[in-house]
Amino acid sequence: MDRAGRYDEVIGSICAQIEGESDWIAVLSTTVAELHNTFSWYDWTGFYRVVAPELMKVGPYQGSHGCLEITFDRGICGACARSKQIQLVDDVTQRPEHIACSSSTSSEIVIPLITNEGDLLAVLDIDSDQEAAFNTIDAENLERLCSILAQHPARPRAR
Ligand code: SME
Repeated sequence: MDRAGRYDEVIGSICAQIEGESDWIAVLSTTVAELHNTFSWYDWTGFYRVVAPELMKVGPYQGSHGCLEITFDRGICGACARSKQIQLVDDVTQRPEHIACSSSTSSEIVIPLITNEGDLLAVLDIDSDQEAAFNTIDAENLERLCSILAQHPARPRAR
């Protein structure tokens, strides 16, 4: 099955599993587990949730230890949070602000979860040890998934 077909399959599976779920962490945990175990080039898969103005906390995630918190002025995740734009990084060494939770990370994609009201709930961060592991198919499908998650009834409501 091609990459797009595998995204269709895994997003359909995630949506079926989280339908009717009332717990936000359960929704995010299920998403991370399904994604991480579907795509071999995913070496770290996780969310950084907005927990206070300009501050994100790690989790849920799969992979080796991830830094516990990221402020909006740091890292690729912070760039995504500030801009509310996807970050597709073929070579992390070309981004001086990159935070290397693992020395083996070579490429990265970070996608914002933004509600219909424009609120940033979290970013989805995926690292790969492979160079240029992510392409427009990953970007389009992960953006589609993050849009679904950002409208899920279990999402946290604006404070
Ligand atoms: N690489 C991310 C930090 C998170 S660890 O990779 C899990 C960044 O630069 O924001």
